[in-house]
Amino acid sequence: MMSNPMILSGKDVSQSVYKKLNEQISFLKSKNITPGLAVVLVGDDPASRVYVKAKTKQFNKLDLVSKTIQLPADTIESDLLNLIRKLNQNPLYHGILVQLPLPKHLNTQNIIESISPKKDVDGFHPENVGHLAIGDPKFIPCTPKGIMRILSHYKIELNGKHVVVLGRSNLVGRPISILTSLKQAGANGTTTLCHSATKNISFFTRSADVVIIALGVPEFLTVDMVKEGAIVIDVGINRIDSNTEKGYRLVGDVNFESVATKVSAITPVPGGVGPMTIAMLVENTVEAATQTL
Ligand code: GUN
Repeated sequence: MMSNPMILSGKDVSQSVYKKLNEQISFLKSKNITPGLAVVLVGDDPASRVYVKAKTKQFNKLDLVSKTIQLPADTIESDLLNLIRKLNQNPLYHGILVQLPLPKHLNTQNIIESISPKKDVDGFHPENVGHLAIGDPKFIPCTPKGIMRILSHYKIELNGKHVVVLGRSNLVGRPISILTSLKQAGANGTTTLCHSATKNISFFTRSADVVIIALGVPEFLTVDMVKEGAIVIDVGINRIDSNTEKGYRLVGDVNFESVATKVSAITPVPGGVGPMTIAMLVENTVEAATQTL
C-alpha cells in the first residue's frame, strides 16, 4: 500500500500560470490592449453563480476587463442570440463565455455556434472542437486544458500509459479523451472513454495508470476500483448537505480518503482541477487578445 501520494495542487500550478500571464498582460497593456471577457449567465442556478463569480473575481484581481451579463431564466433564444451577436462585434471583449448549463428551453448548441470562434475561449464551438480533434488545437476547453497543465507541471508523462476517462461530456470527458491520446509531447496515452452504458467500469479503472473522472457523482471512485500507484484526477465538484456555515460541503467524484492510501498522485477537491479551469480561462482570453495585435 502506498501511503503518501503526491497531492497535485491545481492551486499551486495556477499561481505559476498567473505569474507567466502577468508578463503577457503587461505587454498587451503596453499596446493599449486589456484582455476582456464577457460572461453571460442565464437564470439563477446557484452553482453557476458561484462559478461565474469566481471567474470574474480572478479577472478583477489581474486588472483585466470582465463583465457579467445576467439574464432571466425565461430569456428567449433570439434575445440571447442578439446579445451574443453584439458581443461578437464589441472590441472590448476578446472572449465570450456563456455559462452552462442553460435553461432547458434554450438550444445550447445553437447558442454555442453563435459565438465567434475567435472569441470562443471555452473552446466549445464546433470549429474549435474540430481543430482539437485533428490535433491542431486553437482554443482548448478550460478544464481539460487545466488537467493537461497539471500533469505537465508535475512531469507526469502519458506516453505508453493507459488513461481511463469516466464521463463523455462535451465540456470535459470527450475533449480530455482526445487530448490525452493526441500524438504529441505530454500526451500519446492509450485512452479508454467510459460512460453510463459501460459495463463493469471497475474492470477499466483497475487497469488504468491514470484515471480522470468527470461524472458528477459524489465519491464514485473507491479504493477497490484503482490500481496501486495509479494517478487520479478528480474533476467533480459536488455539494453535499452538511452542518457547516454554508449548509454544504464540497466533495469530488473520488472517495479521497480511501483512494489516497493506494495511489501515487491525486488531485484534491477543492484546490485541484477547479483553480486550473479558471487559470486556463484567463490564459485563453489573453491568447484571444494577443491574436488581435
Ligand atoms: N459549466 C461548467 N463548467 C463550465 C465551463 O468551463 N464553461 C462554461 N461556459 N460553463 C461551464
